[in-house]
Amino acid sequence: MRDGECVLSGRLLDWYDENARDLPWRMPPARSRGGELPDPYRVWLSEIMLQQTTVAAVGGYFRKFTENWPSVQALANAADDTVMAAWAGLGYYARARNLLKCARLIASEYDGRFPQTTAELQALPGIGPYTAGAIAAIAFGRSEVVVDGNVERVMARLFALKTPLPQAKPALVAHAKSLTPRLRAGDYAQAVMDLGATICTARNPTCGLCPLRDDCLALKQGIAADLPARTPKKAKPVRKGIAYIATRSDGAVLLERRPNKGLLGGMLGWPGGDWGDVATVAPPFEANWRVLPGEVRHTFTHFHLLLEIHVTDAPLNTTPMQGEFINKSAFQPSDLPTVMRKAYDLASRPNLKV
Ligand code: ADE
Repeated sequence: MRDGECVLSGRLLDWYDENARDLPWRMPPARSRGGELPDPYRVWLSEIMLQQTTVAAVGGYFRKFTENWPSVQALANAADDTVMAAWAGLGYYARARNLLKCARLIASEYDGRFPQTTAELQALPGIGPYTAGAIAAIAFGRSEVVVDGNVERVMARLFALKTPLPQAKPALVAHAKSLTPRLRAGDYAQAVMDLGATICTARNPTCGLCPLRDDCLALKQGIAADLPARTPKKAKPVRKGIAYIATRSDGAVLLERRPNKGLLGGMLGWPGGDWGDVATVAPPFEANWRVLPGEVRHTFTHFHLLLEIHVTDAPLNTTPMQGEFINKSAFQPSDLPTVMRKAYDLASRPNLKV
């Protein structure tokens, strides 16, 4: 690290000491300055959840997980379905399966203690270079480079790097590396994240409040809000499908657990088969199915989905070819992944009967 850059990370750490967000997995700076480290289990769990969504959205999920499973051993002993249900709504269900796999490996191979090096961490399921760096720095105080979207934005602006993402990534990592301090690397990483989330925001950055404003080349050039540049993404294709929602006269609903591999793997859903160019999949049993007006729209990473909702009332003796009737008392809409929950919500509109 060069001297000037050391000044920058020092300035950022001073700012963090005053302005760090109070987050449930975090060791507050007043204590981390004295060398206290947070619980690696909580750091790992939060980082996996934060790959998915914002700090605000993670809060409730983090609380639920740590209340249900306060340690990695407790999570390792949990039943798959309970964990998948607790994750429902966060998306990317492969992450929840990897989370469990990882917890079980740590319990069985590492005696319940997280390894500390990025190499060992990266060998675990669901932990890539970013998460390994974040855990090593935040939970173990190791001087590792941590680059998430916030850090990329801060670096692109600080150094006025005009190359678009994703091509700019290696240069941004090099800049981040040049600033990473030897001590307090975990606080430093979180300081950049907090700066990116609260001041150096994607739209309308509040440069007047920034502790790095005197050194920011993009601010000097008047282009802070335009960085980082991005290569335009390809438009996503549209797929179509059907969700069949059957309600039995005793209130039970027909659901199926999706295969572990693939989209929404391991999650509960309404029968309906594959999604494609046209919605043609046969119903799970012959009945008078009604097509609801409107449709569910949901966007996945690689495509948009338009889902028709077909509903019917099923007699008590119905034997479906797909799925299983789940008693009313055992069914919670919050156990469903978001797209299936949207289908349920559409079918439950007050003037419609599911
Ligand atoms: N985003 C990802 N990890 C984070 C952390 N530890 N603090 C704040 N934002 C984050």
